[in-house]
Amino acid sequence: MNKSYIWSLPTRVFHILFAILITLAFLTDDDNLLKYHAIIGYAALILLVFRIIWGFIGPKYSKFKDFPLGIKNVKEFLSSLLSDSSKFIGHNPLASYVMIAILAFAFFSIITGSLTYGIQEGKGIFSYLNSSFFKEMELFEEMHELFANLLMILVFIHLAGIFSDRVLHPKYKTLNSIFNGYKFTQNDESIKLNIFQKLFAFIMLIIFIWFLFFNVQNPKNILNASIFEPQNYTVQNELFVDECAACHTLYPSKSFT
Ligand code: HEC
Repeated sequence: MNKSYIWSLPTRVFHILFAILITLAFLTDDDNLLKYHAIIGYAALILLVFRIIWGFIGPKYSKFKDFPLGIKNVKEFLSSLLSDSSKFIGHNPLASYVMIAILAFAFFSIITGSLTYGIQEGKGIFSYLNSSFFKEMELFEEMHELFANLLMILVFIHLAGIFSDRVLHPKYKTLNSIFNGYKFTQNDESIKLNIFQKLFAFIMLIIFIWFLFFNVQNPKNILNASIFEPQNYTVQNELFVDECAACHTLYPSKSFT
């Protein structure tokens, strides 16, 4: 048996950050915590964008085209499930379907979530949709809940898969591999990142960290601003207040433009 480097550092960092954010998203599923829930969703979207691009330009095994999806692979995998050997070094066929479904449902959850936030709460980048025409529409909320619940089920399937792999094929050290990157394989199948992959992963990590800092420093920003927040015109239109408000009523500034 060889010790092969299968999961690169960016893949592993993505996995751990994504797992944390999905957990936090479920924990903040509460009306009072919606603001944090939204920011967590947008942060997860940055990770997802990374992972989808990584699926095309990343190293072997992390690329979507290295996911053994074909029905032939599934049959082969199922028939050799109880045997000792496995030809699948990265994700196995069933795991590949689960991974793609997790990425897809997380993506749909975030999109429908930000639409719900805008339509029903009048907050965030879709706050303008909180008009009389859309306001009562609950379609996106229902979809958001559906996708989130499916995502939760997939996470459990993922954990069950890892658990059964641990029982059936302990010698490949699949569970450890997501932390240290190494699996045990017949031949040495190690991967190596090129400079562009390293650079891309590094830039995405910087964007992700910057996004978190930005939200800590500006807790009120366009991603969660509400259209219902009271406007303070004395602050917004200082000049008018100084020059004209002695005689004229202070109308919303829009009426003068
Ligand atoms: C000292 C009191 C006073 C101040 C200060 C003042 N206005 Fe006026 N303003 C008036 C009065 C009185 C009229 C009505 C004049 C009339 O009907 O002939 C008027 C009329 C107007 C009108 C025309 C309204 C219309 O229906 O024709 C505008 C526009 C206007 N003001 C804008 C301003 C702006 C802008 C400022 C600040 C730069 C300002 N005013 C400052 C007293 C004031």
